[in-house]
Amino acid sequence: MFDTMTITKIAGALIGALLFLMLANWAASGVYHVGAPGGHGEEGEEHAQAYTIPVPESTGGGEAEAEEEIDFAALMEQADVAAGEKDFGKCKACHKLDGTDGTGPHLNGVVGRAVASVAGFSYSTAMVDHVADAPEWTPEALQEFLANPKGVVSGTKMSFAGLKDPQDRADLIAYLATQ
Ligand code: HEC
Repeated sequence: MFDTMTITKIAGALIGALLFLMLANWAASGVYHVGAPGGHGEEGEEHAQAYTIPVPESTGGGEAEAEEEIDFAALMEQADVAAGEKDFGKCKACHKLDGTDGTGPHLNGVVGRAVASVAGFSYSTAMVDHVADAPEWTPEALQEFLANPKGVVSGTKMSFAGLKDPQDRADLIAYLATQ
């Protein structure tokens, strides 16, 4: 009686296990067959594409940021004062370095000088207002202004298009710092 019960239990367990394996096998092959018919592979590729799209977007943004940001301190370190003296030729028509003012205020001592601070020079209100944004002509402030004067101080009466090459700006500021 006891033995028969044990055998019945073992047989039941074996049959159960077999049933389970058969069901599992059927379920697995079912899944496999759903995935197999044509078209599905293509859908898989579409999914892969959907994931690659954001990648070039984020890379593009990173490049744009890198272009915006110039390592100006490094440019200043390798600045060429003699080249800066030549670049100052573009400013000479309006700016002097002997402490007298022309169309523009004198630029001797301008590096580190307070913005719009030359007594007796009649600055535009735009330049006077610029003091609130950037009170001092640091090399960084100068290089930004000289890259695009009217863009940085909108309404300035300095009629100068700007120096496009960051190294030219660094050379010129290094030269001005010696004056
Ligand atoms: C066509 C004339 C002209 C030229 C060229 C010119 N500037 Fe000016 N600059 C001015 C005038 C005018 C002002 C006063 C601007 C204002 O009040 O809005 C000025 C203001 C400045 C200031 C601010 C000075 C201060 O005391 O706050 C700096 C710095 C400056 N110029 C640098 C330069 C440099 C460097 C160059 C050459 C790359 C240059 N400028 C070329 C006319 C000129």
